[in-house]
Amino acid sequence: MRNVTIPASTGSDLDLSPRPGDVSLVVVSPPATDCHHRPARPKPVAPPARVELVDTPTWPPADVRLHVDGLVLQLPDEARLTELGALAAAGVHGEDEMPFTQPWTVGTGADRARRTVQYHWQVRGAWTPQRWCWPVVALQDGVVVAMQELSAHDLPVLREVATGSWVGREHQGRGIGTRMRAAVLSFALGTLGAEHATTEAFEDNAASIAVTRRLGYRPDGEDRLVRQGRPARSLRFRLRAEGFSSPWPVRVEGWSAACATAFGLVGEA
Ligand SMILES: CC(C)(COP(=O)(O)OP(=O)(O)OC[C@H]1O[C@@H](n2cnc3c(N)ncnc32)[C@H](O)[C@@H]1OP(=O)(O)O)[C@@H](O)C(=O)NCCC(=O)NCCS
Repeated sequence: MRNVTIPASTGSDLDLSPRPGDVSLVVVSPPATDCHHRPARPKPVAPPARVELVDTPTWPPADVRLHVDGLVLQLPDEARLTELGALAAAGVHGEDEMPFTQPWTVGTGADRARRTVQYHWQVRGAWTPQRWCWPVVALQDGVVVAMQELSAHDLPVLREVATGSWVGREHQGRGIGTRMRAAVLSFALGTLGAEHATTEAFEDNAASIAVTRRLGYRPDGEDRLVRQGRPARSLRFRLRAEGFSSPWPVRVEGWSAACATAFGLVGEA
């Protein structure tokens, strides 16, 4: 915890830029009324307002990093998010394909970049311990090459997670999709204590289905969905914890009691 009390009169030379641990800024002014709700008597000289910098906990899901066979998975900061947007702009799939239910990849590269960034802001803002989505970027040699998300609701009760992902087109077919899915499955079925993981792909998405099958999922029915105005068959798959063994060791870094609360495993104080 870092609590700093600074007289406001110290003026604009003061560096109020956030430091690690600072999140909220509270301006404390003299009260306008006294405790009996009568107007306070004017004071000859107003005391200086004070500015208190009060720490609040950092964003625990951002502390977690998964390491798997040359990849690091972590929530993106704004710089990494911009990099992910550029990766999406460069291309995610062929023009004659649509692997996503929400066709966010249509349009120009700039459209894809903007939607990517906005999506991440949206899910970050919507996070609650009861319902969350953790969309991490995969870094290879420090460069963003892919996105892998893990989501859940009511995790302590249902013990079930879902996944979704994409790899920058130039990086596809090199095992990145399999490694990053294995990493989040290890995290979910190990650290988070999930017992089931689900995923879904259109029947013509051979690469996604190959990754799914390789990691031990079993068929779990199908959906008939609208894809760009036409019906399409989407295949559901389910993995049970006992049926999973990661082909690579996965190291979880940065897990803490605050993370357990954020991911809904422990009630908030
Ligand atoms: C699906 C996706 C995430 C997989 O990631 P990736 O890094 O390309 O996958 P990998 O290299 O780890 O593995 C691909 C697997 O698919 C197989 N594959 C690829 N294209 C294939 C094809 N046309 N037919 C059959 N198998 C194919 C590969 O042989 C490999 O399987 P293997 O390990 O058993 O040999 C990636 O291709 C992608 O982002 N595609 C576009 C977006 C997308 O479809 N997202 C998922 C939506 S459900």
